[in-house]
Amino acid sequence: MTQIAIDRTTTPKQPPADETLAFGKVFTDHMFLMDYQEGKGWHDPRIVPYAPFTLDPACCVLHYGQAIFDGLKAFRGRDGRVRLFRLPDHARRLNRSAHYLCIPEIDPAMVEESIRALVEVDQRWVPSLPGTSLYIRPTVIATETFLGVHPSSSYLYYVILGPVGAYYKEGMNPVRILASDKHVRAVQGGLGAAKTAGNYAASLFGAEEAQKAGYTQVLWLDGVEHRYLDEVGTMNIMLKIDDEVITPPLNGAILAGITRDSVLTLLRDWGLRASERPIAIDEVIAAAQAGRLEMWGTGTAAVISPVGELGYKGERYVIGGGKTGALTQKLYDTIVGIQYGTAPDPHGWTRMLGNRLGG
Ligand code: COI
Repeated sequence: MTQIAIDRTTTPKQPPADETLAFGKVFTDHMFLMDYQEGKGWHDPRIVPYAPFTLDPACCVLHYGQAIFDGLKAFRGRDGRVRLFRLPDHARRLNRSAHYLCIPEIDPAMVEESIRALVEVDQRWVPSLPGTSLYIRPTVIATETFLGVHPSSSYLYYVILGPVGAYYKEGMNPVRILASDKHVRAVQGGLGAAKTAGNYAASLFGAEEAQKAGYTQVLWLDGVEHRYLDEVGTMNIMLKIDDEVITPPLNGAILAGITRDSVLTLLRDWGLRASERPIAIDEVIAAAQAGRLEMWGTGTAAVISPVGELGYKGERYVIGGGKTGALTQKLYDTIVGIQYGTAPDPHGWTRMLGNRLGG
């Protein structure tokens, strides 16, 4: 693997106090960059001071959205050590997104190394207050200068980092979500399973309408019948009806969430029934009305986020008295315990910084 060149900043910034952290507003001192050119492949991996870069106005990512990203976190445990959560899985998912967008694959070992090396350089930025972490955003954009529609012949892979607090202003308090019977995020056969810019662009209009109606995010229904649950704005959706935990299957229209996978694994470890199956909105509403429903979202940014209210066709359904359910709380405590190193990590999901074999 090519050696990563490191150019350290001569003007390091002061990280903000942990108590002031929100999501995605502050960035660290350095970033990782690597270029791709057809015929030459990926080359010139380097860590440089964080700074804006210039793009030609005709650069194809700006017109046709050939862009992918991923999102993962580093946590500082009470022992002071920094842990990366499910790094190889995020590297693999970045390449799956690349495949959907006709972007050349990056050696997963290089993706892992780029992240590890950058976090090592900026590790003083990893916050330590419970609930805070260092958010890592690997991104690939198409950089060829042209206005015809075809896959670009050049790309930039970059990684930026930022210390973050809770994604929602509600923190770990239950959020309210609105099931949209009008807008659609993605359809099977489209790009719904890729972490690509366009999926988030497609979500904005519906999300704004939901916010105006007092909801935190949209619960997207399938693009054909507008009947089956797909996912929520920035998280996968899960629910428990009686003794069955249900989450929509990976049908090509939703993102293969890594927290989704962690939760399914934990539930099965605990001997609970966890089904990946289509679930219709009417089934969810009937369970809410009968008081048999617990609901939560899973995501890297959102972690485990309880859902306290569901809106649909002008009606509001309160779930579990608007309070965090017992299983939701247990999942949150367990995942967070693994991430901060206070709970056992039987699946080897965390990797210590400075210890390549993991911890
Ligand atoms: C994440 O959970 O990492 C995400 O990518 C959500 C993000 C779009 C805020």
